[in-house]
Amino acid sequence: MASITIRNLDDEVKDLLRRLAAENDRSMEEQARVMIRAAVEGQLGPSGRIDRIEETLRELAVARSPAAPVVAVVSKTLSRGSLSGKRILLIIGGGIAAYKALDLIRRLRERGAAVRVVMTSAAQEFVTTLSVGALSADHVFTELFDRNDEHDVGHIRLSREADLLVVAPATADLMAKLANGHASDLASTVLLATDKKVLLAPAMNPKMWSHAATRRNRATLAKDGIAFVGPAKGEMAESNEAGEGRMAEPLEIVAVIEAMLDSKPRPLSGRRIIVTSGPTHEPIDPVRYIANRSSGKQGHAIAAALATLGADVQLVSGPVSIADPAGVATTHVETASEMKAAVESLLPADAAVFVAAVADWRTANLAGEKIKKVAGEGPPALQMVENPDVLAGVGHHRKRPGLVVGFAAETQDLIANAEAKLKKKGADFIVANDVSHESGVGPTGVMGGDRNKVRIVSKSGVEEWPEMTKDEVAARLAALIAERLKTIVV
Ligand SMILES: Cc1cc2nc3c(=O)[nH]c(=O)nc-3n(C[C@H](O)[C@H](O)[C@H](O)COP(=O)(O)O)c2cc1C
Repeated sequence: MASITIRNLDDEVKDLLRRLAAENDRSMEEQARVMIRAAVEGQLGPSGRIDRIEETLRELAVARSPAAPVVAVVSKTLSRGSLSGKRILLIIGGGIAAYKALDLIRRLRERGAAVRVVMTSAAQEFVTTLSVGALSADHVFTELFDRNDEHDVGHIRLSREADLLVVAPATADLMAKLANGHASDLASTVLLATDKKVLLAPAMNPKMWSHAATRRNRATLAKDGIAFVGPAKGEMAESNEAGEGRMAEPLEIVAVIEAMLDSKPRPLSGRRIIVTSGPTHEPIDPVRYIANRSSGKQGHAIAAALATLGADVQLVSGPVSIADPAGVATTHVETASEMKAAVESLLPADAAVFVAAVADWRTANLAGEKIKKVAGEGPPALQMVENPDVLAGVGHHRKRPGLVVGFAAETQDLIANAEAKLKKKGADFIVANDVSHESGVGPTGVMGGDRNKVRIVSKSGVEEWPEMTKDEVAARLAALIAERLKTIVV
């Protein structure tokens, strides 16, 4: 294999390579070689990984490293054809992230997709129809009442001829229009008139994203079956602000599009599954809350694994610092009561998987102001009341899903507690995990760590699974759920 001269690479590529090398405990040269070898031999991992590697390889090629000829070929082969013959209608909304839509068009086309673009009038303030048209190699549609366009293609055909509608960036405004059924311009009319799947990649200021109105619209859209990718957390392009609101990167959007258009048979397609994940936060006063160590890693991995098998997954997540799983409709909540309300509003469903570590108690009297430390008065006495039981609520609900799976995180008497929970909560099976420090799972334990060791407790007995990564537990559990759902007719 050709030798690689790292110092010839762009700084950005070097940084990326350095990070990957450090993650894998390799030298940078070794990391580059491993990636190129893996690409040549077609031994790449799951899609997120492929994207990163492909991206790096492409950049390596651009950097004219001695490995460039090999890399260029490999990189092209990797991406060619995954969306061949697919027609995507891309709607570009008026946000700063509109510039990323240009790269998205390029990425989609190099994978074989035909991309037709609708731009809102605000979008044209950020990128020109000229650039978009040049990249998509097609006419760009902007007006609802354009006599020529309406005669040639028409808004109904535009919305129906595509295999998938993608809105990137999806502005707060476009989300509001779609959630409320407005058809006041070409983009919103096309979105309302379509009979195809719709994927939104929201991008906006974190305050706009966390506004109650946007959260309401997002929940409505998720309920209507609209898929979401992102937004991610990070720095905002237009200000010094940081937070949740950055549009997902083009390659992440491409990965979701590929998954949504994948025509392989999927055992859970047509099944709606609710998953809860993460901890809950129970406020004490406006600045303090009671929480637990759940990271959401296991619940999010299960939501992603179920989506991979084709399920329409509705994830209800407590406060976590990890990103929403791509292609999974996610509702964000804080407290146990909010989680219960969100879950019940998503019923009916074929199955529900309760992974979240829901707080058992909350404070009886939530203080309206920060509780002050008063000299001589000692600590305040916190009066606690029991929280609603989200799992039991659904396990005994009149709209109970055909399959209800609970998680039991215990530090003692694991099996006895899981068996008791099975009956009390109306679950079909309980995934029991030992979250004590003595569990011996990974260096950081189960909560917050990347590994898990579970037992499946059901009426028919206890099945012990070996210790594995949380992604592996998720994949195996998703397969088990698919198997169980085969026998449940709804
Ligand atoms: C500089 C600038 C940046 C903006 N960025 C965003 C954004 O990232 N997300 C968003 O939802 N709105 C953003 N807006 C507001 C939208 O452009 C505005 O709501 C517009 O009406 C959206 O129209 P559309 O949804 O039809 O594209 C921005 C406005 C300006 C002036």
